[in-house]
Amino acid sequence: MEQQIKSIEQEVRDFTITSNELLENFRLKFISKKGLIPSLFEELKKASPEEKKKLGKELNALKQLAEGKYKSAQEETENTADKPHEEIDLSLPVIPHKLGNQHPLSLTRYRIIEIFERLGFNLADGPEIEDDWHNFTALNFPPNHPAREMQDTFFIEKNPDVLLRTHTSNVQVRLMKKQPPPIRSIMPGRVFRNEAISARAHCFFHQVEGLYIDKNVGFADLKQTLYSFAQEMYGKDIKIRYRPSFFPFTEPSAEIDISCLICKGKGCNLCKHSGWVEIAGSGMVHPNVLRHGNIDPEEYTGFAFGMGIERVTQLLFQVNDLRLYSENDTRFLRQFRPVLS
Ligand code: PHE
Repeated sequence: MEQQIKSIEQEVRDFTITSNELLENFRLKFISKKGLIPSLFEELKKASPEEKKKLGKELNALKQLAEGKYKSAQEETENTADKPHEEIDLSLPVIPHKLGNQHPLSLTRYRIIEIFERLGFNLADGPEIEDDWHNFTALNFPPNHPAREMQDTFFIEKNPDVLLRTHTSNVQVRLMKKQPPPIRSIMPGRVFRNEAISARAHCFFHQVEGLYIDKNVGFADLKQTLYSFAQEMYGKDIKIRYRPSFFPFTEPSAEIDISCLICKGKGCNLCKHSGWVEIAGSGMVHPNVLRHGNIDPEEYTGFAFGMGIERVTQLLFQVNDLRLYSENDTRFLRQFRPVLS
């Protein structure tokens, strides 16, 4: 009988089950009531008590082996065999994979950075949550001076010294304190003003600040730097003009306009029929600001400018509503590709 158990065990091991039919054959042959294993159990009844103990153990192991194999084969055939194959139609078009793209404001920012880097400017950064001193006082805004009203500021109620920066000019004095001249940096970033949201205004927007401080930096450098920038950004035909203006931290100060790209100077809605569009504020850094940055105004001079990124983007891509930039509507955002030089 021992021999029989061994040979049936071998048979169980060698039996390959690849279909439901073979699975049933396996069951009938080994496990079913009339199968080989139950008949061995019948025979075992006749054996002597010692033999019963020994052979019973072996027979139980064989039974377990066969039942185990049956169960796992059953699971496998349930999953695969005799099930209708899922139809795969290889001629169907693939589901398009949507790649993201950069936000139009980011595209403009990268382009501005690229142009100024070529002109020798490096990149600097400053905090959006700022103290009064860096945003106003250090920039020559005296306390309670009406010039502070030009920028409707978000203050923190608990601590009136803390505010959301109203312009990227807050980085100017931070930079001066960090490194001695020459300084030639641009500082892009987000700024905040308490303005009613409309197509033309939002409570936050983006600027790029520029600062150049060295010996003998003059207004001509400012003019040529921004003219070169405008030509790189908008093409060689662009016209540029400087209008006298006022900022407490620059003297003299000027607003920078470029000829309207949409109507080419003829007059349209974007340029309010003037033919010109304002893109930046600028001027020669005020001596008091240099002093606050521990720089001697007798030795060094410099220019600064602040450019609105939204405005530049609007001209590049001809978007006429500012709100679109922060609505996260992918139908709008998907339309923009890098502007190549
Ligand atoms: N900070 C000014 C503004 O936000 C722009 C500016 C920057 C003007 C640097 C002069 C020099 O309006």
